Amino acid sequence: MFQIVRKQEMAAGTIIRFDISAPKIAKKIKAGQFIILRVNETGERIPLTVADKDEFAGIITIIFQVVGKTTALMRSLNEGDLIKDVVGPLGRPAEAEKIGTVVMVGGGTGVAILHHVAKAFKEAGNYVIGIMGAKDKEMLILENEMKQICDELIITTDDGSYGERGFVTQPLEKYLGERDDIKLVHAIGPIIMMKNVVKLTDKFKVKTMVSLNPIMIDGTGMCGGCRVKVNNETRFCCVDGPDFDGSKVDFDELINRNSLYIKEEKDSLLFSIR
Ligand SMILES: Cc1cc2nc3c(=O)[nH]c(=O)nc-3n(C[C@H](O)[C@H](O)[C@H](O)COP(=O)(O)OP(=O)(O)OC[C@H]3O[C@@H](n4cnc5c(N)ncnc54)[C@H](O)[C@@H]3O)c2cc1C
Ligand code: FES
Repeated sequence: MFQIVRKQEMAAGTIIRFDISAPKIAKKIKAGQFIILRVNETGERIPLTVADKDEFAGIITIIFQVVGKTTALMRSLNEGDLIKDVVGPLGRPAEAEKIGTVVMVGGGTGVAILHHVAKAFKEAGNYVIGIMGAKDKEMLILENEMKQICDELIITTDDGSYGERGFVTQPLEKYLGERDDIKLVHAIGPIIMMKNVVKLTDKFKVKTMVSLNPIMIDGTGMCGGCRVKVNNETRFCCVDGPDFDGSKVDFDELINRNSLYIKEEKDSLLFSIR
């Protein structure tokens, strides 16, 4: 059993932060890796990336958006409550080496994951430019934390309620046009955002890593549920990823596969609140 030691509602009650006591995982986990949790005995297993950790206190932080049955159930939990299983670290850590100037692009809840990766790139000695976007001001998360990590930070909102109006790709295009020292772009967010970031960086020939989020079941490379096509080859996101070279990812196939169970997911949420 794993205890929730802190709960924080971050954005209009739909993005929640849990600090969970998990000393063994906190000791080992690195930026970009994830856990799979099961809230109770009959619960489904869902993957969530670790947004931060405190190795000494034995705490891991997860930040999740309430989108369906399990995340809605998690929202109803409080400090002191227990989660049945937390398994991890899973996946490969982000390759945060010293390479010079990097641009970290995050959208929506993706900023939670990006923040941990951006911190690793900063600690490795890179000049970190952050671009983070949200639908509107209310949905923006971790602004102060990103400000502390990034040497420059641009914020966009789709509706212009905060920062620059528009999508993250607009300031990214400006940076790519103005600077020739950008060695890497790392993008984490909705699939369509990552696809558009890669379309742009391909044009400027800048290497771009993306963090993929297919449906996962076991998280250990056994079930094949998380298969993605990269460079025309089948890869398992849970063991080969979640980070891949964006210019080689078949985003359209990922979008199709992730929409396969929309009806079942809706039904299971409706059934659970009846
Ligand atoms: C490696 C990885 C890391 C992730 N990290 C985060 C994170 O840090 N924060 C966050 O908010 N979300 C994260 N996600 C997505 C998160 O796992 C889903 O939002 C969650 O599983 C939804 O479950 P649900 O029952 O609430 O919703 P459902 O109604 O069951 O599903 C809603 C949507 O969530 C996705 N989803 C559902 N089940 C799974 C599953 N077993 N595996 C993967 N995706 C699923 C699908 O796209 C689905 O359409 C991550 C996904 C992956 C693969
Ligand atoms: S989740 Fe089963 S192979 Fe990756």
